Amino acid sequence: NGGPNDAKNLRVKLVVLGSSGVGKSCIVLRFVRGQFDPTSKVTVGASFLSQTIALQDSTTVKFEIWDTAGQERYAALAPLYYRGAAVAIVVYDITNPESFAKAQYWIKELRKHGSPEIVMALVGNKADLHEKREVPVQDGIDCAEKNGMFFIETSAKTSDNINQLFEEIAKRLP
Ligand code: GTP
Ligand code: MG
Repeated sequence: NGGPNDAKNLRVKLVVLGSSGVGKSCIVLRFVRGQFDPTSKVTVGASFLSQTIALQDSTTVKFEIWDTAGQERYAALAPLYYRGAAVAIVVYDITNPESFAKAQYWIKELRKHGSPEIVMALVGNKADLHEKREVPVQDGIDCAEKNGMFFIETSAKTSDNINQLFEEIAKRLP
């Protein structure tokens, strides 16, 4: 156990939820392609991307990522994407308190209708805009702790904590 021949290859269905404009697609693009698009278009329906990472114990994790559309008109589609997901990333924008309220809505929704073993991460994105911050770090920490989630602040723009987000999720997989 733990020897060099114990490599495992995991496939993980992951859903990204959160208000429109919080940076879900930019986080996914940064993780998958290492790029940032300042003119990112709103997502229509959802988009699918995948990315594989290797862990230190030579396990590989293939994330099959459903990047959902945050606009209200698409809210009814969300269950199609979070149903059966092993991981949910709930994103808000640290400069936008309404997006933080919406994140709490998604957490409740996932608790009610998601898989009972789902691994959930709460992500405060746009951490580079600290001069415009309106959601204190501690509010994110408290919310995550209350809901048994992993918490991190990221910037898709600078790439700060983007890889860490997915590495920490991989470590928490059952
Ligand atoms: P929907 O697809 O409508 O749900 O939105 P989304 O959450 O996918 O937002 P998207 O990733 O398209 O980003 C929205 C806007 O925020 C874009 O103009 C991005 O350039 C900007 N943005 C995303 N991430 C960051 C970030 O970390 N920092 C800054 N400063 N801007 C960001
Ligand atoms: Mg999007």
